Amino acid sequence: MPLVVEKLSISTSTYSVVKEAFLRVEKGKRVAVVGESGSGKSLTALSILKLLPESLKVSGKVEVDGTNVLALKGKELRNFRWKKVAMVFQDPSASLNPLMKVKDQIGEAILYHGIAPKEEVEGRVLELLKMVNVPEPEEKMNAYPHHLSGGLKQRVAIAMALACDPDYLIADEPTTALDVTVQARILELLKELSNSKNMGILLITHDMGVVWEFAEEVFVMYAGYTVEAGRTEELFKNPLHPYTKGLIECSPRLKGGKKRKLPYIPGSVPEPSEVQKGCPFYPRCPIAKDICEKEIPPAVKADGRVVRCFLID
Ligand SMILES: Nc1ncnc2c1ncn2[C@@H]1O[C@H](COP(=O)(O)OP(=O)(O)OP(=O)(O)O)[C@@H](O)[C@H]1O
Ligand SMILES: [Mg+2]
Repeated sequence: MPLVVEKLSISTSTYSVVKEAFLRVEKGKRVAVVGESGSGKSLTALSILKLLPESLKVSGKVEVDGTNVLALKGKELRNFRWKKVAMVFQDPSASLNPLMKVKDQIGEAILYHGIAPKEEVEGRVLELLKMVNVPEPEEKMNAYPHHLSGGLKQRVAIAMALACDPDYLIADEPTTALDVTVQARILELLKELSNSKNMGILLITHDMGVVWEFAEEVFVMYAGYTVEAGRTEELFKNPLHPYTKGLIECSPRLKGGKKRKLPYIPGSVPEPSEVQKGCPFYPRCPIAKDICEKEIPPAVKADGRVVRCFLID
């Protein structure tokens, strides 16, 4: 049974920020959510762990292996987080306590969730650090986070997320703060973990190069909507939504370093508070027609793809 998000809407008291977003992650699969800054990727991810700020209203369906997440509370919710779904964030320093040694913070998570008795905690921490390929784990386990490089900190954050052996891992831009070679190694690690633990991974990124390297399936988000979804290879070979086309065109790493005209999609993602009529991509769309200005296109299924655009056949 998969992780499923359907018709997800997230709103403030006056406007909505995420609108009819959808997602699906099967166990053991690697899935990416891609889109520019402000498209609603992080809020969608946070809703899966019921971590949204109280001020935001959520509606729609968030279901993980048959559990209705939006209805979870108290002990059930605590058991769901970390054990069922764990999350890793962009800035590993933010998820690590600077005052605690690596072994104490991972150990705390293990004890809190009753994963192992006290006398076995250190052994389990060591095992986790080895699992994420931290070199010299016996030594690193006694270090404080600020003694570690960015890449190592992110490995420790991933080890902590794995402490309870979750079925799904959500990684929100986990490599954005890291340099390119470290980024590639972290993605490789996540791939290996997905395979060896049959863990579903939802990777959030704004980088189509990362999507191509990592994901088997991809969901493209724009201005709070999921505008296209499909298998990575097919979507790159034949992008249907003009926004997906733009993202691929603008990804320098995919084009073998060739200089291209139009290295970006002109314009920017609309602010969620702007009143919108019609397709949210209309103002930036190179092929927009009259209807696009007037109505929001429905999400249509076509050959294993879902696309929200009037102009596909
Ligand atoms: N608590 C909040 N109240 C109101 N609006 C919010 C709140 N949090 C985020 N937003 C707005 O919702 C929109 C989507 O935010 P989100 O963080 O999900 O985008 P994102 O796709 O993750 O972007 P980025 O790539 O920059 O991380 C943004 O316009 C943001 O300003
Ligand atoms: Mg974000």
